[in-house]
Amino acid sequence: MMIDVKMTVNGQERTASVAPETTLLTFLRDSLVLTGSKLGCDVGDCGACTVIVNGNAVNSCLMLAVQADGKDITTIEGLSDFEHLHPLQAVFEQMSSFQCGFCAPGMIISAKHLLDKNPHPSKGEVQEALSGNLCRCTGYTKIVDAILELTSEEASAA
Ligand code: FES
Ligand code: FES
Repeated sequence: MMIDVKMTVNGQERTASVAPETTLLTFLRDSLVLTGSKLGCDVGDCGACTVIVNGNAVNSCLMLAVQADGKDITTIEGLSDFEHLHPLQAVFEQMSSFQCGFCAPGMIISAKHLLDKNPHPSKGEVQEALSGNLCRCTGYTKIVDAILELTSEEASAA
């Protein structure tokens, strides 16, 4: 049995028929070929699959595609216009905040979710917002520093 779904992904309306057990992550990666969201643990532990669903940061490996029916989804591909990096992407690059890069899409989406709600977070608030995102390479310091650097740049430019 397949189920019809319709959702908005990165501002575009997408319709498809999906199997009931298909996760949102598999739908994004395999059906829409939006492979920026990564499949790490597949059980909600690593945050590599994080996307924004109706304003909430969600592990897309834990959500079924049918549960996203009618919802508004933002993936890492929705942040840049493919000519200009999103400021978070740019500051991660500038501050060398990733090594293998596997965690970066989820980290950046979690950071965007935080800054959408709280444009000038404290260090503790950044750490809390990223607490569901695991990184095996960086030790997290440069990731947190990049986000704080961006928010301090924006504060001094205001
Ligand atoms: Fe979804 Fe790890 S792949 S939390
Ligand atoms: Fe490798 Fe974070 S940079 S997992």
